Order: sequence, then structure tokens, then C-alpha cells
Amino acid sequence: MKCEVHIVSSEVFADHAAAEVARILSGEVHGPSGRTIALSGGSTPAILYERLSHPPFVETIQWENLHLFWGDERCVPSDHSESNFRMVQDVLLSKIDCPEENIHRVRTELSPLDAASDYERTLERFFPDPAGSTPVFDLVLLGIGEDGHTASLFPGSEPEWDVDRLVVAVHPTGQSMARVTLTVRVLNSARVIMFLVTGRRKAKIVNEILEGSGPGYPAARIQPRGGRCIWMLDQDAASELQSAGNS
Ligand code: 6PG
Repeated sequence: MKCEVHIVSSEVFADHAAAEVARILSGEVHGPSGRTIALSGGSTPAILYERLSHPPFVETIQWENLHLFWGDERCVPSDHSESNFRMVQDVLLSKIDCPEENIHRVRTELSPLDAASDYERTLERFFPDPAGSTPVFDLVLLGIGEDGHTASLFPGSEPEWDVDRLVVAVHPTGQSMARVTLTVRVLNSARVIMFLVTGRRKAKIVNEILEGSGPGYPAARIQPRGGRCIWMLDQDAASELQSAGNS
């Protein structure tokens, strides 16, 4: 997999990732409504959100020109402790001045199937042209599980998510709740995809995917068609990489 691999110490991971996100978001504005970002759930992305909610980033990022979407969501109420929206609300949204109309959460008060269709319509309304094309996010943030899942694209549930749709509802085996997720088609249309991975327990899967020996994993399917792919790793997560830089 050709991509940019950033390897930093755990101590500076949040700062390094936040600085890169700020650089990406300060770039050229493509959409008429400003920049677009798809947020990830999980504890590792939460580290980044926490850092973005503090100076200098909380002041330098133009939140009023940024539209926040979610790459995936658990089908629980938006104030549930397992909600990705709730996590971002607590760690970031509650500390920044982002207009309400710029926050596009998955409406999990609907059934999973209806929430997925509703979110698909949200994307179609926001990314209108050309009609029928794939939305292009300026930045997609992703985490990765030890099983190679990313967003809510889990191994074994491919029939549910490997489709031409923009958003699907899935209930992955072993997961306690249904989820709504952007599809590979949408993720791979992004201008920049950034994986955020820390910890030694992720080292094996990171090495398998980056060294190309894990083609079957969902995360290995995420390779932007024309954009940048950045793997932001701390030294523990990178500890099994044979070739330190893949770029
Ligand atoms: C979620 C994410 C999921 C997450 C990975 C990694 O809803 O939880 O979409 O894909 O990014 O499971 O999570 P950690 O960063 O907490 O290990």
C-alpha cells in the first residue's frame, strides 16, 4: 500500500496529528459550503479531538467554515455513552464555536436502515454535484481495530457494506449493536484519509496492512483513489513495521 507513514512518540502523537489536520484544513477550500471532515469514533481519534479543542488549534482552525460528519455511528441514542456523536460532543464540540448547521450527525433515533438512508440523503443534499457522483470529503479520519476493521466496516460483513451505496447499516458479528457507516466508495473518494493508530496491540495489524500481507482486511481496502493516505502512528503501533517509511 503506498501511503505516507508518520511515526512519532506517544508523547507528541496528539500534537503531531493535530498540526497535520490543521495544515490540511487550512488548505484550499473546495466546496461552496467550506471544508468537510468525516470524524471517526474510538479512543485514538478522541486523543486528536481533545488536542484540537485547545490552543493553538482551537483558535487557528476556522470552525465556522468546517462541516463535521461522522464516518460511522453506533445505533444508540445520541446521548448514549457508546455514541460517537456524544464522544465528539463531549471532547470537542462543547469547546469550540461550530455553527449548529455545520454539525451533521447520524440520526440514530431512526431505525438502523432508516438512519442509513437518511444519512445518505444528507450527503446527497450537501454534496449535490454532479448528481449521482460520490461525495468528496476534504478529510476522513479513521481508526483501526486489531481485526482490521475501520469505521464500521468489519471482516465478515462485506456483503452488507461492499456496495455502491454511500451509507449502509450493518450489524457486524460479535458487535452488540447495529451501526451505520460510510462505504468504501465514499471513504476512498476523500482528498485526504488519515488513520490514527496508537499502542502495541495494533502493531501486528498495522504491519500486515502496510506491508501488504493483509489484503483481506477492510482497512486494507481504504486507499484514496486520487487523494493522500496518511498513517499517523505512535512508535508502539509502528513497532513491527519492517520498512519504517512507506511513502
Ligand atoms: C468506532 C470506530 C472504530 C474505531 C476502531 C479503533 O466507532 O469505534 O469507527 O472503527 O476507530 O475500533 O478504536 P480505538 O482507536 O479505540 O482502538
